[in-house]
Amino acid sequence: MSHAELITRFQQAGQGHVFAFWADLSPPQQHALADQAAEIDLAEIARLHRRLVAEATGAATASASELAPAPYIALPGNGGDAAQWAQARTAGEAALRAGRVAAFTVAGGQGTRLGFDGPKGTFQVTPVQAKPLFQVFAEKILAAGRRYGRPIHWFIMTSHANHDETTAFFAGHANFGLSNEHVHFFRQGRLPAVAHDGKIMLEAKDAMAMSPDGHGGSLRALHRSGALDVMEQAGVDILSYFQVDNPLVRCIDAEFVGHHLLAQSEMSSKMVPKAYAEEKVGLFCVQNDKLAVVEYSDVPMELQRETDASGALRFSAGSIAIHLIDREFARRMAAGGEAVELPFHRADKKIPTLDATGNPVKPAKINGVKFELFVFDALPFARNPIVIETARADDFSPVKNADGVDSPETCRADQQRQFARWLRAAGAELFVDAAGMPQHALEISPLFGYDAETVAESWRRLVPSPNLQQPLYLS
Ligand code: UTP
Repeated sequence: MSHAELITRFQQAGQGHVFAFWADLSPPQQHALADQAAEIDLAEIARLHRRLVAEATGAATASASELAPAPYIALPGNGGDAAQWAQARTAGEAALRAGRVAAFTVAGGQGTRLGFDGPKGTFQVTPVQAKPLFQVFAEKILAAGRRYGRPIHWFIMTSHANHDETTAFFAGHANFGLSNEHVHFFRQGRLPAVAHDGKIMLEAKDAMAMSPDGHGGSLRALHRSGALDVMEQAGVDILSYFQVDNPLVRCIDAEFVGHHLLAQSEMSSKMVPKAYAEEKVGLFCVQNDKLAVVEYSDVPMELQRETDASGALRFSAGSIAIHLIDREFARRMAAGGEAVELPFHRADKKIPTLDATGNPVKPAKINGVKFELFVFDALPFARNPIVIETARADDFSPVKNADGVDSPETCRADQQRQFARWLRAAGAELFVDAAGMPQHALEISPLFGYDAETVAESWRRLVPSPNLQQPLYLS
């Protein structure tokens, strides 16, 4: 399409202001803006604005009668069936030995709350070695591949904003030991932010204010980028999905994979029991007979506080953004259509933009809306979706904020508590305080061990045992 045709299309859609400064731009700048504009689905933007902004009726809290607590497979220590977990482990290990599982990290977020300059995966997170998040995952994936005798493929979703920096980071660190043929990057889609009147916002004279389309954009992007075909050729049919901000995650979890396979599920999730009724986590619920994650703000507070006869919260299953997704389910979701369409959500934000004369504006209050897809919204479309329980301390300690809850400080402490638990379970005489913290800084490389069992195996081989009365890194 020529530039003139593109501009006309925008004018006809009431978005002609996107080209307000066209005459001021150099030819390369004009090309850049035109390329961006050609990416935009104007009808989709108009539809999203109409549905989520113009005709929005405020937060849609679900009614109590349409929600029931979601069933889940409890841990053996919490009333679950030990034989079922053992069977799951056997099935999961067989799938891993057959190379059927790939790791999948969504790393396209903007990480605004952490306020770190750079892709979040490059943030240095471990307590002694200050390894970046990407290195922690890479080493877990490498170690699991060695354990199961099959290198594991790793798919990483980036954004337009962080793609080049992310790939350069991996190249600069030789993929942290993984081979090029097993590490795959692809970019997620993006959408322009709109003002409350539906006008697309400009971030510069030659650029719209674009932002990534949410972690739910991963399903479309897996398909569009050809990643699903790469998986198919490699014999991978299950993606182990996790977020870039959570170094505690078991990237590759044989028991989880086994439960998923035994249930013939297309999408499975992990839950942790909520720490307290008001905790702000998405909740696994059954809504209109379908498994779904409902945002905490959409569940009536009286339901969140309800307890059963034993005093336990009825709605206790908190979502921690760890899923298994079948390759062909992702393909079906990506194809879209009325029957399988993920809903967009709106996020009201302060969006740096330009005024009518082209001067930059740093807004003091909310001035626009971004649209995002959430991956957990795929659950109601999946065949036989299941939820399994995990221990928070073994799977979840995200780095979201610069300080306070879910910050680098809390995450470093949680990592050290986990390392200490593993060593103590292996028989090491390591002293911890009442909160489980070791006296000296402690870090265990995933290549030494990445769970209680693998750490115990390596620990037994260490002769003589290292001195535990000083800071320690086991690798
Ligand atoms: P968050 O919801 O924490 O968002 O993402 P964020 O953008 O990283 O951080 P804030 O809200 O700006 O502080 C959870 C996970 O989903 C990924 C993130 O990279 C993170 O792993 N994500 C989020 C994407 O990959 N793409 C997106 O568009 C949004």
